[in-house]
Amino acid sequence: MKNFRLTEKEVKTLAERFPTPFLVASLDKVEENYQFMRRHLPRAGVFYAMKANPTPEILSLLAGLGSHFDVASAGEMEMLHALGVDGSQMIYANPVKDERGLKAAAEYNVRRFTFDDPSEIDKMAKAVPGADVLVRIAVRNNKALVDLNTKFGAPVEEALDLLKAAQEAGLHAMGICFHVGSQSLSTAAYEEALLVARKLFDEAEAMGMHLTDLDIGGGFPVPDAKGLNLDLAAMMEAINKQIDRLFPDTAVWTEPGRYMCGTAVNLVTSVIGTKTRGPQPWYILDEGIYGCFSGIMYDHWTYPLHCFGKGAKKPSTFGGPSCDGIDVLYRDFMAPELKIGDKVLVTEMGSYTSVSATRFNGFYLAPTIIFEDQPEYAARLTEDDEVKSKAAV
Ligand SMILES: Cc1ncc(COP(=O)(O)O)c(C=O)c1O
Repeated sequence: MKNFRLTEKEVKTLAERFPTPFLVASLDKVEENYQFMRRHLPRAGVFYAMKANPTPEILSLLAGLGSHFDVASAGEMEMLHALGVDGSQMIYANPVKDERGLKAAAEYNVRRFTFDDPSEIDKMAKAVPGADVLVRIAVRNNKALVDLNTKFGAPVEEALDLLKAAQEAGLHAMGICFHVGSQSLSTAAYEEALLVARKLFDEAEAMGMHLTDLDIGGGFPVPDAKGLNLDLAAMMEAINKQIDRLFPDTAVWTEPGRYMCGTAVNLVTSVIGTKTRGPQPWYILDEGIYGCFSGIMYDHWTYPLHCFGKGAKKPSTFGGPSCDGIDVLYRDFMAPELKIGDKVLVTEMGSYTSVSATRFNGFYLAPTIIFEDQPEYAARLTEDDEVKSKAAV
């Protein structure tokens, strides 16, 4: 799969219409990522983890393609409700639910919940009586960038007692869920978790509890991320095969977040200041670590930077616009000489970026522009047609 990347010319013309910084989202790319997953992991229905990128156009696109949604809060449910998504298409997959979230779930008819502790049972039984619940188990994976299992997931040996207690409180024990950790480079982590889940399904059946649903969580990596040496199709197909083998009659779901939009968004930002400090030139951009680059801190991630100047390249430092010393984005990056006003492009900016941006120091949030609504998109289509018709001659 080719990642979405604006050309220098597109950056220039877009920046003539929109003040920087701005993000450009490709809905075609999101759709391609969604369809790729459906093709290579057909056994798992999708609950898109909208926390990764809740841009309304992306949510509407995915809803139209048949995706369901993983929500973490009342705010996310409200956003989906406003877009016409029914609660029956949501899973409230935050293991710890607050009062507002449970109230919104009851209001919008969200029926599916995950939990990992007895303290959640009474809350759910009161707010959403009879709801479908999945117990989240802790699983192992040392090949994930973000480990979620130190904070979430009940010990496996407690899982069935939790489901039984939920059942006794009037909830419907529906199944098991897990999350192998985010940006997982391990197929084996899913395969091992599936084996653990199978054993639990069998033990539940023996106890008279028939479980119908399994949720394998998120964790799938950003496709073709820099340095990612992984065949994503093979990864998904191996997991699909294990699901077929172990869960032929179970409804299976996945909650991809970063995978879906990571490669679908570019950031266009400008050089607003230059400095010379020691041997390296410094360039200050109009977007920084308190903005869309927040993922550097929260998500342990770096984003490919592209500069357009033609001169000799030198190791350079790039910083954000805030008055904080921590707001440094790239060091020793080989860049041509840049001047104030030059635009730079940052790709793979689609997941855990704008959503965790703040207005620290009063800077405005970078808006997201939809590429398919722009004349640059139409121009690409025309160019493609011309290339095809020349090839046909
Ligand atoms: C419950 C749950 N599901 C899905 C996700 C999405 O994970 P990822 O972005 O790794 O696919 C998260 C991320 O935090 C999560 O907490």
